[in-house]
Amino acid sequence: MVPNKKMEALLNKQMNAEFYNSHLYMAMAGWFEGQGLPGFAQWMEVQAGEERAHAMKFYSHLRDRRGAILVGPVPAAPTKYKSALDAFQAAFDHEVRVSEEINKMMETAMAEKDFAAVELLRWFVSEQVEEEASTDAVVQQLKMVGESKGSLMYIDRHLAKRKAE
Ligand code: FEO
Repeated sequence: MVPNKKMEALLNKQMNAEFYNSHLYMAMAGWFEGQGLPGFAQWMEVQAGEERAHAMKFYSHLRDRRGAILVGPVPAAPTKYKSALDAFQAAFDHEVRVSEEINKMMETAMAEKDFAAVELLRWFVSEQVEEEASTDAVVQQLKMVGESKGSLMYIDRHLAKRKAE
């Protein structure tokens, strides 16, 4: 069933937000490369790939329901951070905002009785728990061990192990 105009607009909005998320994490990856921290950069690059996959879930959903697919411009993402902790704290704070958006959208989908969108969003509700947890885990590590060169190199080696799924 074609989504109604309200849901179609929200699905497009979130698709574009997820494309931005991919852009945001690629910009963070670039910043980490410049800091000589390739493991942090690798983690961010994998995350950027996941965000693109999130955007494509909305894209496919709109396509399969014959909704309009409106890919818009991607806003500029920040390219400078004060520290590794500053970048990961920004990532965590961003994910909390994404979760709020997904939850609001779920509320609307339920009110509109758009059960197809509810099912799609159910996946995103669980995914956001992971997204917040994975960024917060690094924030906590950075807070615990501090940001001496040795600590950063240790975490960098660990984060380098993240592979695209
Ligand atoms: Fe797709 Fe990290 O939100």
